[in-house]
Amino acid sequence: MPAPKYPRVASLKTAADFLTRLKELGVVLPFDEQVEAGDASPLGQSLPWSGGVIGNRFCILPMEGWDGETDGRPTELTKRRWRNFGVSGAKLLWGGEAVAVQPEGRANPNQLMINDHTLAGIEELRTIALDAHRERFGTTDDLLLGLQLTHSGRFARPNDKKRIEPRVGYRHPVLDKKFNVTDDAAILSDDELDRLVDDFIAAAKLAHKVGYTFVDVKHCHGYLGHELLSGFDRLGKYGGDFEGRTRFVRRITDGIRAEAPGLAIGVRLSVFDFTPFEPGDENVGRPSADAPYGYAFGGDGTALGIDLTEPKRFLELLKNLGIDLLCSTAGSPYYNPHIQRPAYFPPSDGYLPPEDPLVGVARQIAATAELKAAHPNTVIVGSGYSYLQDWLPNVGQAAVRSGMIDSVGLGRMVLSYPDLPADVLAGQTMQRKKICRTFSDCTTAPRNGIVSGCYPLDPFYKEMPEREELNKIKKETVPT
Ligand SMILES: Cc1cc2nc3c(=O)[nH]c(=O)nc-3n(C[C@H](O)[C@H](O)[C@H](O)COP(=O)(O)O)c2cc1C
Ligand code: SF4
Repeated sequence: MPAPKYPRVASLKTAADFLTRLKELGVVLPFDEQVEAGDASPLGQSLPWSGGVIGNRFCILPMEGWDGETDGRPTELTKRRWRNFGVSGAKLLWGGEAVAVQPEGRANPNQLMINDHTLAGIEELRTIALDAHRERFGTTDDLLLGLQLTHSGRFARPNDKKRIEPRVGYRHPVLDKKFNVTDDAAILSDDELDRLVDDFIAAAKLAHKVGYTFVDVKHCHGYLGHELLSGFDRLGKYGGDFEGRTRFVRRITDGIRAEAPGLAIGVRLSVFDFTPFEPGDENVGRPSADAPYGYAFGGDGTALGIDLTEPKRFLELLKNLGIDLLCSTAGSPYYNPHIQRPAYFPPSDGYLPPEDPLVGVARQIAATAELKAAHPNTVIVGSGYSYLQDWLPNVGQAAVRSGMIDSVGLGRMVLSYPDLPADVLAGQTMQRKKICRTFSDCTTAPRNGIVSGCYPLDPFYKEMPEREELNKIKKETVPT
């Protein structure tokens, strides 16, 4: 079977071309022909939340660079990224990047950590982003900045980039094999989770102390918080029914309210999930499991379908916990990247897209809109827009204007094009040479022990010696 090839977005030169392609796919996306600037711009409107007002409708999604010091402090590369987040023009910086609350929970030995030793560095990141923003835009009064707190669970590699040391919520029939879980000792006990709850609370307290307005209690991408939500089979107080599976977030929230009053809380949530995928014929992705599949939070049991009944209930719970900040995402970059970060070119440990990536973008947008309709008072940020490339502003504006989301989250696009929000809001034409074409180098690099960055398009990373090393690795490993 020949590998499917889809038209590249860059080849859809006019709005009519783009809309025709959507029609061919049977995909519905919100779309405004005209992107507005100035006072008329839906993306320039302010956004009220329970703690104040956010200055516009662009959000920078959390993105780590695998480039911290091994003791968990930021490096110059980390600081450069946060500076770029600050100058982007977005008024919501959702979490910056994943920051581990304990050493064992790091996704790689260069992930940031938050503790007394690293706190000055974590504070500096905030200052850098705020200063950069103030310098360019005059004020930070309407800028909301949080810190994403994490435990990497099944994907922890705290000591050696090449050695996975998974700690899991439950045994999984596919992921255990793929990520080297060989016995029940990998399952975090209830006592260990109790201690981890305390670590999240202590981390939140530190973040509050150095000025972060909110912390994101991460529940996405297959990391621990997310995995616990699908722990239907897990015994004990952190598994089983909805109450058990959400005990983790409830206890962390209660603790933060008691120990860091005034600190706001957000949650980044994979709002649906599918079975893991693997390379099939001609390296095209295929599901690793069939129905019935009982491990997908927000799944319908078929392995490939969505049922938002529980995610809606989860948002209701968050509302009752006084949380009105939600960042929506989907799946996991480790086991089904095409639903999480739709891309034309796969990362080295991935597979060729089993669908036109526009389908993946539309799936996330539709699911997020369904949640927003059910919870109109929750501020909801959307993700997965980078694949839209030249048409990102048209779709983002229409999604905001029609109330499908409150804020357009930008991930990969700001690595290649850091000030896209500023350009769009100023009514400037997108700079084509900076548009992320989803080459996936920013994922392939860290999967092979190299710092992450936009090697193809960011002049700074283009010049780095790592680029040659990466190109060599790509030739040998990236599925074609
Ligand atoms: C290099 C890289 C690092 C990322 N790191 C994080 C992270 O630390 N925390 C997180 O929640 N998501 C992380 N993500 C996921 C992004 O926030 C985002 O959900 C994803 O890239 C899809 O959005 P996009 O289409 O705009 O890129 C990362 C993505 C990339 C490409
Ligand atoms: S490496 Fe650059 S162009 Fe490629 S996906 Fe990442 S941000 Fe986009």
